[in-house]
Amino acid sequence: MPRCFVTRTLPFPALDRLRAAHDVTVWDGPLPPSPEELRSGVASADGLLCLLTDRIDDALLDAAPALKVISNYAVGADNVDLDAARAHGIPVGVTPDVLTDATADLTLALILTAARRLPEAAAAVTTGEWRTWEPAGWLGLELRGARLVVVGPGRIGRAVGDRAEAFGMEVTYVGRRDDLDAAVAEADVVSLHAPLTSSTKGLFDAELLAAMKPGAILVNTARGGLVGTDALRAALASGALGFAALDVTDPEPLPPDHPLLTAPNLLVVPHIGSATTAARERMADLAVDNLLAGLDGRPLPHAAS
Ligand code: GLV
Ligand code: GLV
Repeated sequence: MPRCFVTRTLPFPALDRLRAAHDVTVWDGPLPPSPEELRSGVASADGLLCLLTDRIDDALLDAAPALKVISNYAVGADNVDLDAARAHGIPVGVTPDVLTDATADLTLALILTAARRLPEAAAAVTTGEWRTWEPAGWLGLELRGARLVVVGPGRIGRAVGDRAEAFGMEVTYVGRRDDLDAAVAEADVVSLHAPLTSSTKGLFDAELLAAMKPGAILVNTARGGLVGTDALRAALASGALGFAALDVTDPEPLPPDHPLLTAPNLLVVPHIGSATTAARERMADLAVDNLLAGLDGRPLPHAAS
């Protein structure tokens, strides 16, 4: 019976389809397996179902001689060395589309939170700073007429743009060949939806952050590595950037004593873009579809590109 290694407990029915005809080992620790534990998990595996918290590199694949398929439980595949997988002849699957709405919804929640200064306003209630109705208190950005720049016009970026247009925002999409500096200079809100690759790593460095409109909002629900963490902290501290709302960070998780967390006008949530029951269930379905196809030697229905 083919053996599958699943690197975390996924409490969704899709795994039952896998168990029906495969010998499934699930890493059931509360945290991801260590690199050593991952190595021993894949040593005799035919199929691997892994998470974005697992680093899948050349050395790991060398240690997995029987491996026929890698199914990543994520739309992104930056945790997998795709060149190494190709060199080993192992296809890599991902879970696109099914988390687009969930991630776009969270992005709008972050845009609204930043635009209306909710963390600061909510804090005023508990600190006693809320003494009366203030004509000029906690004034924020009205979305109608404000400019949103979506960096990365993929499925999630477009879904964010559609939602933002429903709020009356003017939306500009910026792809690989567009002038990012010029676009961010005009933006009231910049939202990141690009994959993390060698060419997008650290894209939002000190220079690009300085090119943003003073007081603008930066939202990142893509990958933490797109933004230079030190540069972001400096831009928030100087007031150059008005607010940063982050679902993803670099490093991730961000330790509670990380210097970034001392920055003002910052909201960080723990990588919950796809965290709806519906999206996570459908991601499990797609991940299992990919795994079963790979074990059968069929093309993966949702291959990483
Ligand atoms: C989440 O970040 C994903 O890539 O699915
Ligand atoms: C990227 O894969 C996206 O869905 O935007």
